[in-house]
Amino acid sequence: MIRLDKLLSNLGYGSRKEIQYIAWSGAITHKGEVLKDVSMKVEPEDILINDEKIDASKLIIVMNKPKGFICSHNDSAKLIYSLLPTRWQQRNPKISTIGRLDIDTSGVILLTDDGNLNHALTSPKKNITKIYEVELASALRGDEVEIFNSGEMMLKGESKPCLPSKLTIKDSHHATVELTEGRYHQVKRMFGYVGNRVVSLHRSGFANIKVDDLKEGEFKIITYDDIKV
Ligand code: URA
Repeated sequence: MIRLDKLLSNLGYGSRKEIQYIAWSGAITHKGEVLKDVSMKVEPEDILINDEKIDASKLIIVMNKPKGFICSHNDSAKLIYSLLPTRWQQRNPKISTIGRLDIDTSGVILLTDDGNLNHALTSPKKNITKIYEVELASALRGDEVEIFNSGEMMLKGESKPCLPSKLTIKDSHHATVELTEGRYHQVKRMFGYVGNRVVSLHRSGFANIKVDDLKEGEFKIITYDDIKV
């Protein structure tokens, strides 16, 4: 049970004062009865606002991130969160990305307000597979597959080599990489290691989650059961 005004302000419906005004307008019902006392302790599933259920459970979202948006809460660049409904941007706890994609990377990114889930899915121990589609500045040489798979690639500033990753060459300038780590700028640095440069990067998979029919900037809610790790 939670106070109605606290519940609704945590869900982004407004400040506690604004919730009071919404309640006075008669828009909130509790088990079918109009509820105007915002101090009442309620179960979220008993509350409707304008006859609609409230999204009180934890949110897990999959988005097809467009390039040009940053996975940060605090930056002068366009934030990925600005693509979410305004009310979701005001939820407490905050919705955060599960891991990060660079500003110029597109593709699958999960977001959640469930801190435990976020922690579990970003833990290096989980070894979650991420699939990246890469476009390169220079032609591939052919030995990159072996180097990526060697488990001996030591990137600058790192104390441990990268775990083996699977590189599939599509044509001279395009490849797919499957990684189980998530080091800073990892794909770009790995191609830098083999003397190349990434000109375009798209993540097509995170665990079993794909962008499917989501257009860039679109998102949908998924459930815990949808994520197979
Ligand atoms: N590797 C990168 O270099 N950038 C990303 O955004 C993701 C993986």
